[in-house]
Amino acid sequence: MTMSHVRSWSQFQRSPFRSPQGTDGDKRWHLVPRVLRDVSRVDLSVSVLGQKLSMPVCVAATAMQRMAHPDGETATARACRAVGTGMMLSSWATATIEEVMSAMTASLGGVMWLQLYIYKDRELTLSLVRRAEEAGYKAIFVTVDTPYLGRRLDDMRNRFKLPQHLSMSNFSSASLAFSEGNYGNDSGLAVYVAKAIDPTLCWDDITWLKKHTHLPVIVKGVLNGEDAAQAVNYGVDGILVSNHGARQLDGVPATLDVLEEVVRAVQGRCDVYMDGGVRRGTDVLKALALGAKAVFVGRPVLWGLACQGEQGVTEILELLKEELRLAMALSGCRSVSEVSRSLVRRVEFTSRM
Ligand SMILES: Cc1cc2nc3c(=O)[nH]c(=O)nc-3n(C[C@H](O)[C@H](O)[C@H](O)COP(=O)(O)O)c2cc1C
Repeated sequence: MTMSHVRSWSQFQRSPFRSPQGTDGDKRWHLVPRVLRDVSRVDLSVSVLGQKLSMPVCVAATAMQRMAHPDGETATARACRAVGTGMMLSSWATATIEEVMSAMTASLGGVMWLQLYIYKDRELTLSLVRRAEEAGYKAIFVTVDTPYLGRRLDDMRNRFKLPQHLSMSNFSSASLAFSEGNYGNDSGLAVYVAKAIDPTLCWDDITWLKKHTHLPVIVKGVLNGEDAAQAVNYGVDGILVSNHGARQLDGVPATLDVLEEVVRAVQGRCDVYMDGGVRRGTDVLKALALGAKAVFVGRPVLWGLACQGEQGVTEILELLKEELRLAMALSGCRSVSEVSRSLVRRVEFTSRM
């Protein structure tokens, strides 16, 4: 596949990944534009967790990026730097926390956040947090929707494990680095999670984590307004509305459809972000109108990375930026702060005939 294939958004629209991830919410929301507003200049910049970004589109944590391209997470970091946006590094990266940060700062600095899985071994968990703090990461996104791995049938059929030359680079022991182990006939990752990740995780662990880090803590994987209110009570700095790309629990709603419930429950007491199925500038605009401060993208970044490494990711992010700029202009919005709730309307009935 070449970049010209990646450039075609219609390819993403047809992608088999699109609908199974529960993100068809885009079809249920119409944009209702405003006109005659002098949109000769459109400012996409936004502040996320105290850092200024060139656009409200950031990179979500996706594990093991060297499976997509030999440069893996370091290429993604360089692309984020080039575009001026933030990157959330997976705990399960195939490059270390420090390596990825230096790839980003090598070209003038940038915004890195760490996605954290909480291990049964709490000292090990805190060592990841400390390394992120020391390396200059700006926030911790703690994933709360994965006490066990979802039932991923393809991974089970393939008996998923990492190829021999790769490992989860942030761990020194071979079994925690997922580079060796006996996984039987199952998905290796499901076995790994059951063995290493703490399924007892509960709200008090958010208090525990906040006690051990000075970095902002954002909970990743909230879909329910009551959980969002609870998260605020536990002092989180942000909530990422996410269904893990529909890779965890089958039957969950599209994130766009629950975003407003979460935003209402939070009542402005912390930032709300969203990921899942963001493929076009109009998807970003709808999420902003429903109250997201910014959105995150997962799979499109991997597609760009697999096609053409750093340049591929850069082009994907630039495409989203230009699409958002145009969508904002055509909606009469000159800045992100002008994107308001009145811009979107829920479609109650769509004929399939
Ligand atoms: C291949 C892949 C790996 C992922 N790895 C992680 C991970 O390590 N940690 C995590 O919290 N979420 C992970 N996610 C979920 C993403 O962070 C994000 O929630 C999701 O991909 C957003 O949906 P999108 O791919 O439609 O943009 C992964 C998703 C994919 C597709």
